[in-house]
Amino acid sequence: MSFKVVEPCTPRLNRCELAVPGSSPQMFEKAARSKADVVFLDLEDAVAPDEKPKARRNVVQALNEVDWGRKTLSVRINGLDTHYAYRDIIDVVEQAGKRLDLVMIPKIGTAADVYAVDMLLTQIEAAMGLKKRIGIEVIVETALGLANVEAIAGASRRLESLHFGVADFSASTRARTVNIGGPNPLYVVMADADVAGNRAVSWADPWHYAVARLVVAARANGLRPIDGPYGDFRDGEGYRAAARRSVALGCEGKWAIHPSQIEIANEVFTPPASEIEKARRILAAMDQAGREGKGAVQLDGKLIDLASIRQAQSMVAQAEAIARGG
Ligand code: GLV
Ligand code: MG
Repeated sequence: MSFKVVEPCTPRLNRCELAVPGSSPQMFEKAARSKADVVFLDLEDAVAPDEKPKARRNVVQALNEVDWGRKTLSVRINGLDTHYAYRDIIDVVEQAGKRLDLVMIPKIGTAADVYAVDMLLTQIEAAMGLKKRIGIEVIVETALGLANVEAIAGASRRLESLHFGVADFSASTRARTVNIGGPNPLYVVMADADVAGNRAVSWADPWHYAVARLVVAARANGLRPIDGPYGDFRDGEGYRAAARRSVALGCEGKWAIHPSQIEIANEVFTPPASEIEKARRILAAMDQAGREGKGAVQLDGKLIDLASIRQAQSMVAQAEAIARGG
């Protein structure tokens, strides 16, 4: 290990983060009763410009009046390049900061963007006498944001998660897309011809680089990496495949832009029972070896190294958090 200790952020379950437009108050109760670990009430791109003030009022009212149970609640503010952002932060945190857990900053570009929001939150919390520190989540969804992702990830102790916003990222990088967050028939690898002259074609993941880089930046700073939206909500299998790609790379959860995606995310981002059981057996074998004064640990005839033990510890900790409900 490095001499530098990576401090973990505030732990939370974040398997599914449900997006709910602030301009659609009829959806709030259903979101509160959903199985999503986190709900974010959106003031940004799902809300038309002339609906912004109304959406802000809806969000304040919903934070104060809806029974959200133990759900983690976030509000996505407007971009820091708009004149909506300052009032989003001030109105929402002053009027409903007690129930708010997180502020989500879209289109993050630099570490200074995080610093600016941290400063405002710090002042409002002090002025309002808020006891709980509000966390920050950021959406990496521009070329600038991804270029600066390491500095962004280390910008504030309030930061909890980095999200990959594939839709805006495609717009920013001018990537060609077919379905938000899905693969693209342009992005395939064609093999050389085999003896019969056939050329195999395999689809590849156009988002691999961005997600993998975001995962590394997040984990290097003790943050949760979260994958963003999958646009075609009628395509449950496509959503599942995208979620499986991101869990394989280390993401801890994925957005749902429709309630039908919640259950799939929860399933994919919950470690399978067989893996949890194996992790518990690894830890038990490690304990046993410790009691017997043995240095090397064996399980099922195979030597277990320290990296497998760390993986087992983190899987068991995650399973216990899920069983506790957060
Ligand atoms: C999310 O905000 C995205 O742009 O994908
Ligand atoms: Mg976006």
